[in-house]
Amino acid sequence: MSPDAGGVPTGELADALIAKWGSFDQFVEEFNAKSLALFGSGWTWLTRDLEIITTPNQDTPMMLGKGEPLMGLDVWEHAYYLDYRNKRDDYIVKWWNVVNWDFVEDRYKNR
Ligand SMILES: [Fe+2]
Repeated sequence: MSPDAGGVPTGELADALIAKWGSFDQFVEEFNAKSLALFGSGWTWLTRDLEIITTPNQDTPMMLGKGEPLMGLDVWEHAYYLDYRNKRDDYIVKWWNVVNWDFVEDRYKNR
């Protein structure tokens, strides 16, 4: 994450996301829906194979044999409670404003 980030990805990663989901917005919609559906504490991940998965608590994609993820969203309550109280949906929507796509794309290219 980065304070001067957000927006939409470009380059190879953008092409791959659009090829898989049809549009960047569709990708975001699925990522958000899975993040909201995660019960309790955990993480939402974009894996190196461009799967969106959630894991409970401190579990990671590596534990599932899916390699190091490209990015992860912390949906433990401590990640958002001070700023958003119980409004996980607001936190998830705002989180996209700090996603560092240059970093994520580097990880995608070097996976
Ligand atoms: Fe956390």
